[in-house]
Amino acid sequence: MKLLVVYYSMYGHIHRLAEAIAEGAGEVKGAEVELRRVPETLPEEVLKKMGALEAQKALAHVPTCTVEQLGEADAVIFGTPTRFGNMCGQMRQFLDATGSLWAQGALVGKVGSVFTSSNTQHGGQESTILSFHITLLHQGMAVVGLPYAFPGLMVIDEISGGSPYGASTIAGPKGERTPSENELAAARFQGKHVATIASKLTR
Ligand SMILES: Cc1cc2nc3c(=O)[nH]c(=O)nc-3n(C[C@H](O)[C@H](O)[C@H](O)COP(=O)(O)O)c2cc1C
Repeated sequence: MKLLVVYYSMYGHIHRLAEAIAEGAGEVKGAEVELRRVPETLPEEVLKKMGALEAQKALAHVPTCTVEQLGEADAVIFGTPTRFGNMCGQMRQFLDATGSLWAQGALVGKVGSVFTSSNTQHGGQESTILSFHITLLHQGMAVVGLPYAFPGLMVIDEISGGSPYGASTIAGPKGERTPSENELAAARFQGKHVATIASKLTR
């Protein structure tokens, strides 16, 4: 069973969650898990102005994803930072290049799942994940979230991302916060949950 974690991360928060997702998915017997970034669409000059160059260097070792690779996977877990309550433009552009997969029904019946990150606690994490699901449904994917079987969704004595729609982290107003243990546990759970379902479907 092939599982791809496909994401965009400007400052590293989504990347850290992606690693935890992959860790969880890797616990499932027979799962081949790979991390892939979607191609950058912004010029270096703009990334510099956004203070993203250092973080981008640290992610450079992660290979970029091709549209064809999506078609070869049994499950895809997508990660995107929130941009005005929606997915980022880099991810949108990548998905908008999957028309040929749609025409062939290449993703029909594959498992799809989404995780996110935002600076603020109520800054649109749920709308980002739910609106992302629309594209996955158009592609015929079986959408999987993060069930309440993960007990960390009940945590209220600390700030935490994570919802039944998917794992998430709150990066803080200046991006200074790193994913908490509960958020990383949510990501691991989602990875394992998606991989378990995909394994059953590919038996
Ligand atoms: C153009 C733009 C729009 C953003 N919109 C939101 C938003 O709607 N809500 C929010 O809380 N954070 C917003 N952010 C902050 C990002 O979500 C945050 O930088 C990101 O989650 C960090 O993830 P990363 O480290 O993987 O890039 C926005 C950032 C940019 C650059």
